[in-house]
Amino acid sequence: MTKANPIDLHPVQRLLDKHRVHKEEYELEIDGIKLRMVPNVFCPAYTNTSRFLTDNLTINEGESVLDMFSGSGFVGICAARIASRVVCVDHSLNAIKCIKNNIKANNLANKVSSVKSDLFKAIKVERFDVVIANPPLLPGKPRTLLETAVFDPGLKTTVKFFNNVSKYLKDNGRIYLLFSDVTKDSKLGGLKMIDDLCAENGFKYKVVATKPVGYESYFVIEIKKENNG
Ligand SMILES: C[S@@+](CC[C@H](N)C(=O)[O-])C[C@H]1O[C@@H](n2cnc3c(N)ncnc32)[C@H](O)[C@@H]1O
Repeated sequence: MTKANPIDLHPVQRLLDKHRVHKEEYELEIDGIKLRMVPNVFCPAYTNTSRFLTDNLTINEGESVLDMFSGSGFVGICAARIASRVVCVDHSLNAIKCIKNNIKANNLANKVSSVKSDLFKAIKVERFDVVIANPPLLPGKPRTLLETAVFDPGLKTTVKFFNNVSKYLKDNGRIYLLFSDVTKDSKLGGLKMIDDLCAENGFKYKVVATKPVGYESYFVIEIKKENNG
């Protein structure tokens, strides 16, 4: 019997350590966006993934956007450069505080709002043109709220996201999902999980960008309803 390769957790531990250094709010700027970070909130400057996602989004003027798993709000705020309205969602109170800081720092209170919610639970049903998602991608057990940014047992949050997102998406809408094939040697099966979740939930998808990083690759995946174009 062949044994699945264990996932190397050193890179994520280094990433978490960078976050744990911060005991107070700190400021930085990425791609012209000012961020006032709150401790224990996922910082888009400490990985390539958030910017890989924002570099590969297609947003059109006048569109409405839901930024699920928003963290600092960086991705939603990038989208708000073009979109007419953005709702940023996170389950962490620290993240909501951080998103509010950053809406203010970038003068976007007229376009961007935040909702504290476990996935879609506290969001009033509304259909968006675009839903963006950068979920936790490692199948481990989080011990702190910060760790819920990266660890999710069985990637159940991604499964629930697929099972519920349809009613928040216009029929001709698009989802942009950041995903990794880090689980390719486990029963989760890497990208095969996306094949299965799309098939089960009436979606089709295409990979719009791929970024190999060591032992895994990141993907930006564009997902549409099966009957959309
Ligand atoms: C990988 S971070 C992404 C942050 C941000 N979108 C970015 O790209 O910089 C994932 C975020 O998802 C949030 N999160 C995890 N589980 C969640 C859930 N069930 N509902 C809402 N937010 C969740 C975490 O608090 C964290 O801020």
